[in-house]
Amino acid sequence: MMVCEYKPGLEGIPAAQSSISYVDGQKGILEYRGIRIEELAEKSTFLETAYLLIWGELPSKEELEGFEHEVRYHRRIKYRIRDMMKCFPESGHPMDALQASAAALGLFYSLRDLHNPAYIRDSVVRLIATIPTMVAAFQLMRKGNDPVRPRDDLDYSSNFLYMLDEKEPDPLMARIFDICLILQVEHTMNASTFSARVTASTLTDPYAVVASAVGTLGGPLHGGANEEVIQMLEKIGSVENVRPYIEHCLETKSKIMGFGHRVYKVKDPRAIILQGLAEKLFEKFGYDKFYDIAQEMERVVGEKLGSKGIYPNIDFYSGLVYRKMGIPTDLFTPIFAIARVAGWLAHWKEQLAENRIFRPTQVYNGLHEVTYTPIDQR
Ligand code: CMC
Repeated sequence: MMVCEYKPGLEGIPAAQSSISYVDGQKGILEYRGIRIEELAEKSTFLETAYLLIWGELPSKEELEGFEHEVRYHRRIKYRIRDMMKCFPESGHPMDALQASAAALGLFYSLRDLHNPAYIRDSVVRLIATIPTMVAAFQLMRKGNDPVRPRDDLDYSSNFLYMLDEKEPDPLMARIFDICLILQVEHTMNASTFSARVTASTLTDPYAVVASAVGTLGGPLHGGANEEVIQMLEKIGSVENVRPYIEHCLETKSKIMGFGHRVYKVKDPRAIILQGLAEKLFEKFGYDKFYDIAQEMERVVGEKLGSKGIYPNIDFYSGLVYRKMGIPTDLFTPIFAIARVAGWLAHWKEQLAENRIFRPTQVYNGLHEVTYTPIDQR
């Protein structure tokens, strides 16, 4: 058997062959199925991009309308899922509520038919359609309110924002939110996608695949960073405090949230687009000091760590955008999951097409031939 060098975090080790997305971390390029994200952010919608990723090509007008129609009419969640969510503690994190609810969906659709394209399509539609409803339902129920029914006359993003506070969103806000979903939908072999593919490789159901990916996305080194960025900006509190804060992080060797990336050694192209979106929102709805603090952070971190290739990543500006939209901080990562579910499902489908169960090896560095010590002699 070939012996490979152990690489912590599997750095540089390919875990799959994939044609879904591509990153050039030196040039700051991200493509979905070969199309640059800048172009998709300008011209596409989240559902169209989801279709592109999952089925490999941009849909025709009829295909897109058909997909949008199916998603629209699968948005409601079963009352038994709602009842289950009502029992969750209101102090629990919405990512945990989402992980449990996504897994619970599998209880209702337990007939696994992985070779049937209709089963794949139904599962894709159901997960993309219901995850936003579950996030919004938990948000309202934890405040003691009933969930809001989805509105069939609203597009995907407008409906989610409507379900959060029963108010039709401003059209610019809804469009910016949709672009954020496009930017967050897919990103090659990141931790949650890897986790989705490992789970998929056992030929379990797509609800288990998504639930395991949601659990992985929640950590602060991955999708959870967007929430931590806002907490960090609040803690810093003013532009003058930025430099001492960063110097303290560097002295104590603690990570500055929203900066650095395993693949990008330049500013993340998604962060560039998100910064522009944040500016549009600030122009229309008023600037706040957090944007000034963020810009100063980017400047000081660039000065101190730019030579190491550490620049803002997607999570640095997404939090600012969502905060300006009035979305509670602990919903930022569930929103990341609303987007990323389409990427995970594209990888689920691709994994199934050429499946082999993931079963890597390890470098054992423990003991051998140890004798058992009876309990009274330990
Ligand atoms: N602040 C300070 N130093 C950093 C940072 C940071 N944010 N990121 C990397 N470094 C330094 C790190 O200390 C190390 O320095 P040295 O070589 O002197 O020991 C070097 O850069 C390499 O860091 P690493 O942690 O080994 O890099 P990694 O590829 O294993 O981790 C990362 C990548 C994203 C986990 C890391 O940069 C990080 O923890 N960033 C902060 C959390 C964050 O923003 N996460 C969101 C990532 S992007 C979206 C997503 O994946 O969801």
